[in-house]
Amino acid sequence: MSSKVQAPRGTQDVLPEQAAARAAFETRAREVLEQAGYARIETPIFEHTELFARGVGESTDIVQKEMYTFDDAGGRSLTLRPEGTAAVCRAYVEHGMHKLAQPVKLWYLGPFFRYERAQAGRYRQFWQIGAEALGSEDPAVDAETILLLATILGEVGARGIQVRVSSLGKLSSRLVYREALQAHLRANAERLSEEVRGRIDLNPLRAFDSDHPGTQEVMRTAPLLRDFLEPDDAEHFATVLALLDAAGVTYEVDPTLVRGLDYYARTVFEIHSTELGAQSALGGGGRYDGLVEQIGGPPTPGMGWAAGVERILLAGGSPPHATPPVDLLVAGPVGPDQFRLVADARRAGLGAQLDLAGRSLKGVLKQANRIDARYVAWMHEDATWELKDMQGGEQVAVADADAVVRDVLRGPSL
Ligand code: HAM
Repeated sequence: MSSKVQAPRGTQDVLPEQAAARAAFETRAREVLEQAGYARIETPIFEHTELFARGVGESTDIVQKEMYTFDDAGGRSLTLRPEGTAAVCRAYVEHGMHKLAQPVKLWYLGPFFRYERAQAGRYRQFWQIGAEALGSEDPAVDAETILLLATILGEVGARGIQVRVSSLGKLSSRLVYREALQAHLRANAERLSEEVRGRIDLNPLRAFDSDHPGTQEVMRTAPLLRDFLEPDDAEHFATVLALLDAAGVTYEVDPTLVRGLDYYARTVFEIHSTELGAQSALGGGGRYDGLVEQIGGPPTPGMGWAAGVERILLAGGSPPHATPPVDLLVAGPVGPDQFRLVADARRAGLGAQLDLAGRSLKGVLKQANRIDARYVAWMHEDATWELKDMQGGEQVAVADADAVVRDVLRGPSL
């Protein structure tokens, strides 16, 4: 025998029992989003590499080391999408959606790819559900999108939910803040971890994420961005919080919240679950008012989020779901009559299956109990049928296939 071929590291098969939980999650999430006026969009799995380099940001981990990038046979550099926001903005520009009534509210669900260290809750192919609202600066958009993700997580039963919000302000205030933070880090450089020290110039904010004790101590007295916000940004943030209060969303203001993408301005947020280990973020997002322009479109404000489907399911976020009932199991041997009967039964709206394993009648009845089939039908040599109610135990002779379908439809007892 040749050696077994296995799935690549960091990928997962979705087996039938997990598929049912996912479908139930998707149904509930879609209802919440569509009730709020979000329409579905799907963008391609691969895009020009440039979209992510410009959109997500050259200095991010995602662009520097996590993208699946390849040249196609025509010599174009393409990348498997690591996230959805840049592509939704590209589609907004490409399809002239700025001419529609604003904001344009879109949601998506599909696979995304990042070359990350695989562990529980962190995969190289994972699914995200996301929502983006483009074309409005209103702080109500920020509050509403946050409310929608919190609502979805609540509705599907994800446990241990914690909402964290913060504001990054404008780029200009962030630059002033960045210098203040760099000065603080340099003044305490000898107490920092080597990694944080090496990133003072490139990404000083990352120091807030460190689990190194010395660094954590230095960060306790670090300047905070909220003290550097300009008045209009501070007011925007205060309105977002007041609206979340009005909607009864419990949250924590976390001035140290760091997002792994460059495009954010003003509001950022994450929703975590205490049920998960190190990878506790179920979802996150924020406002990205400069992104559409960054990729060549007209100045357009935007706000949105994405959440990891596998993590939501790990946190218990799978609404109750039932497998569809088997109303009728038709015994073999399978010939045109048996085949026609199941086709007719399904056309009439019944859950109908053929025995495709060549079982004896006794074996088919056993199988019917195993799959909880309500009725079993088999044909006699004279082309009349026999129908057995597996719950009541009654068995009747039936003239033809049409009568079998009629009897099963009429149920419950013969
Ligand atoms: P993100 O925080 O990079 O944001 O990803 C959102 C969520 O996707 C995470 O909270 C996590 O649940 C899930 N996720 C990310 N990477 C992985 C992974 N390797 N394995 C499993 N799950 C993962 C974004 O992607 C932004 N596009 C969100 C956004 C939308 N911001 C504005 N609009």
